[in-house]
Amino acid sequence: MPRSAFAILFSTALIVMIAWTAPFLVAQPASAPWPPPPAPADNPTTPERVELGRYLFYDVRLSGPGYMSCGTCHRPELGFSDGRRVAIGITGERHPRNTPGLANVGYFQVLTWANPSETRLEEQSIRPLFGRDPIEMMAEGRQADILARFEADLAYRARFQAAFPETGGAIDFPAIRMAIAAFQRTLISADTPYDRHVRDPASGALSPEAERGMDLFFSDRLACGTCHLPPHFTDAAVEPRFHNTGLYNLDGAGAYPEGNQGLIEHTGDPATMGRFRTPSLRNVAVTAPYMHDGSIATLDDVISHYAAGGRAALSGEPSPLTSPHVRGFPIRETERASLTAFLHALTDATFLADARIQSPYRWRGNAP
Ligand code: HEC
Ligand code: HEC
Repeated sequence: MPRSAFAILFSTALIVMIAWTAPFLVAQPASAPWPPPPAPADNPTTPERVELGRYLFYDVRLSGPGYMSCGTCHRPELGFSDGRRVAIGITGERHPRNTPGLANVGYFQVLTWANPSETRLEEQSIRPLFGRDPIEMMAEGRQADILARFEADLAYRARFQAAFPETGGAIDFPAIRMAIAAFQRTLISADTPYDRHVRDPASGALSPEAERGMDLFFSDRLACGTCHLPPHFTDAAVEPRFHNTGLYNLDGAGAYPEGNQGLIEHTGDPATMGRFRTPSLRNVAVTAPYMHDGSIATLDDVISHYAAGGRAALSGEPSPLTSPHVRGFPIRETERASLTAFLHALTDATFLADARIQSPYRWRGNAP
């Protein structure tokens, strides 16, 4: 082979190698300035459980038919959301709800959009795995098949053994759910420009425009910080709270669309119509579309919704059930731009690129 051809081949190989390994060389996130998420006594967040959980989270073999994983809907590059208006299950059935991101989910006292009894990550995964209404991963009735897939895989047997030595590495759904929960407790975002600004206000991490947006966000006039409490930008990390932001008023009395009415579906109390848990705003710039039903496409439209005192007020009457904290406010164009810049400063590039939380199957697509 002529030397020049060899050189071209060699440098091409080098470039390919660097391109492949580069994502693994990204800086690891600065350690969070708050403690790691609390874990139940029987499910400590050990490195072995986290690693097993990571494999399982991204493994399509965990679904009945074998072609959907948690990661199909919770995509790391989208802050663990899916970019769809509402989620779509393995049979093509539409979920009534938008897929939330999972950053800092280990800190939340209440999980999902509006179910006050959903409080533990270990239990939450039962819903996507076995739920029939809507069908998501369709594991119901196929448990034995699914477990057999992992039993047949030597690497998995070793991972279960390392993660659960006390049970001899038994491969069952309780262990699967515990490992996935342990993995999710490591999805920690703590390195947004906002975080860096809080750690060191002189760092220049926030642009002057974003800093003005931050002041607006926490101002009495806009009051966003009342519910989107820092550092996780949701009050769900403090206690279970649910709010009606006035998106719908179908009947003049504040009705939300049938089948997606929020807390009332669990309490039966008419006063809780349209109340939803506050979503975190970490990575919000990459988790569009917005709201429990994905019915707002852009952050600018979210701002219009709040400025009007609830979207219902934009096209008709404001909902009488709207939270007293969603009052509506005047906002100038420059202020809108500043607020948007601040919301963009909640994007955690370190988190989104963190090699430790990506799919271990990334080079083969979302499949083993
Ligand atoms: C078909 C898409 C889909 C799949 C697959 C899926 N999810 Fe979800 N996930 C959703 C949707 C939609 C919600 C909101 C559900 C609701 O509010 O009723 C959600 C909510 C969650 C939440 C609550 C987040 C929060 O902010 O409270 C967690 C945790 C979660 N999913 C983890 C998982 C795990 C673990 C798996 C795999 C076992 C999984 N999901 C599979 C779509 C999906
Ligand atoms: C009364 C509490 C409350 C206040 C005040 C509030 N929010 Fe919200 N926010 C919520 C709740 C609850 C939702 C979800 C509502 C739904 O889906 O029906 C939400 C949703 C959002 C979303 C969509 C996030 C997503 O992932 O879907 C954004 C963005 C947002 N709020 C920004 C703001 C801004 C900016 C302000 C201030 C102008 C603000 N919020 C004020 C409670 C509040």
